[in-house]
Amino acid sequence: MAVTYQQELYDEESEAVLSDMTVRNGTGDLKTQELRAKKAEAKLGGGEERVAKQHARGRMTAHERLELLLDKGSFHQLDVFVTHNAVEFGLANQKFLGDGVVTGYGTINGRLVYVYSQDFTVFGGSVSHSHAMKICKVMDMAMRNGAPIIGLNDSGGARIQEGVVSLAGYAEIFYRNVLASGVVPQISLIMGPCAGGAVYSPAITDFVVMVKDTSHMFVTGPDVIKAVTHEDVTFEELGGAAVHAGKSGVAHFAAENEEDALFLVQHLVGYLPNNNMEDPAVIAGQDDPLRQDPELDTLVPDNPNKPYDMRTVIKRIVDDGQFLEVHEHWATNVLVGLARLGGRAVGVVANQPAVLAGVLDSDASQKAARFIRFCDAFNVPLIVLEDVPGFMPGVNQEHGGIIRHGAKLLFAFAEATVPKLTVIVRKSYGGAYCVMNPRHVGADLVLAWPTAELAVMGPEGAVNVIFRRELAQADDPVQRKAELVEDYRRRFANPYIAASFGYIDNVIEPHETRPRLINALEMLQNKQAALPPKKHGNIPL
Ligand code: HXC
Repeated sequence: MAVTYQQELYDEESEAVLSDMTVRNGTGDLKTQELRAKKAEAKLGGGEERVAKQHARGRMTAHERLELLLDKGSFHQLDVFVTHNAVEFGLANQKFLGDGVVTGYGTINGRLVYVYSQDFTVFGGSVSHSHAMKICKVMDMAMRNGAPIIGLNDSGGARIQEGVVSLAGYAEIFYRNVLASGVVPQISLIMGPCAGGAVYSPAITDFVVMVKDTSHMFVTGPDVIKAVTHEDVTFEELGGAAVHAGKSGVAHFAAENEEDALFLVQHLVGYLPNNNMEDPAVIAGQDDPLRQDPELDTLVPDNPNKPYDMRTVIKRIVDDGQFLEVHEHWATNVLVGLARLGGRAVGVVANQPAVLAGVLDSDASQKAARFIRFCDAFNVPLIVLEDVPGFMPGVNQEHGGIIRHGAKLLFAFAEATVPKLTVIVRKSYGGAYCVMNPRHVGADLVLAWPTAELAVMGPEGAVNVIFRRELAQADDPVQRKAELVEDYRRRFANPYIAASFGYIDNVIEPHETRPRLINALEMLQNKQAALPPKKHGNIPL
């Protein structure tokens, strides 16, 4: 059944009238009752039995999820009357209004968003061509009208009975995911067992939120894997939230339950602009922009090899200690996330000395690079807190392509034109100095704490290389090495050489960091910067 825009209009008008209509006799009323019955039928999806099954599995229906996600009464549904067109495999007599996906628009804290919510009770939320076209329609509207698109995925992938027509529908969705990338924020919630196309569309989007225990993502499920590779694996082991949020990096967030996931998305949207032509809203909190924090002055240990938690530094600097960490459980040697400074949304990228001494490996580089590119696409300024001993040495890393992956991070920082601020907290060694947003790749302001150490490599390694012969001949190599390390540290392990070249704009006391950064963001609010004209760069993927 083809759906026309007239039908949508009719639907919306009648919805508005429905609320305070009294039933009268006559043909008009009968028609209205028919409409009400159809809408009630559509809301029931695949029927009461399947809804009960969905609830029994600890999952909500497509409508229940939207009711929690969107502001009360703000949802306007589209395409309620769409059904599939397939006649194969006995589907002709199995039609469900809406065809397994609820689409439309509404608001989150007053902000317009477009949504689709797949209904697992209708053919397992699988994607028919009609189902795909409904999703494409809201994606097109989101792009045309410049508002985020949020997908609630609960789907067995391409509708098997439709064959290539279903695949065509999926490809249309993927195409729009790509076109929308960098134009409007795209957020995917994974609310059930998502397979095949149901994972590739989310994979292209900016943020993937999974629900612990009840959501899974895999290209092919355990049964197919058993048949092909003879591996025995459970849903959870293969593609549960813990796997994708901690191991594969496919999921950015793992929520405790569905409510939690929906709340998280509401919170996330608050940091984002509606589209790439707008800046994120400035929302002043309770925190004084001039607040200084003396605790920061003693936070970095005297011993340069001792770890500390960079998360503490972030929380002490940003507004109200609020840090929405992205990829909290994956590549934890680098921290990325959203926060506010003086009310302005910022993207924080920070090395984490508490994990692997904050070293950059392949996963950490990819994690940070993708986040930086998101922030740059959506006008979110970048704050970099640096304490990094370098890139991770090792055969595994080299063979795994750390050259290629590390280059992504360098590329992402260099390419970003949003305001970029770096604070060197402690170590800035070697390639990591060049990568972690130094002035040379376009940082707008580089500040350093007095504890900063900038050098080609750490003292031990450097002394081993440049004094190898002398140490081999020394009467007391241990004593001599200690002297040389101390000398090297005195000469290089400080911020003043870099500052003397103007590579560091200012050395500040740690307690001043917050007001300094807020001031810098104000100074940079009208920043204009552009890349040379080109079709697109060629980031080493
Ligand atoms: C049609 C489907 C379906 C599908 C599930 N159903 N997947 N119908 N097409 N792809 C139907 C079932 O027949 C069943 O109907 C209902 O949905 C619920 O499914 P169950 O199997 O009972 O649920 P569950 O045990 O929870 O298992 C969920 C599941 C499993 C893991 C998603 O159904 C499954 O493995 N489905 C196939 C997944 C898949 O391989 N999809 C194709 C991927 S290829 P009734 O009538 O009993 O309620 C693809 C290509 C895209 O997507 C291209 C990518 C680049």
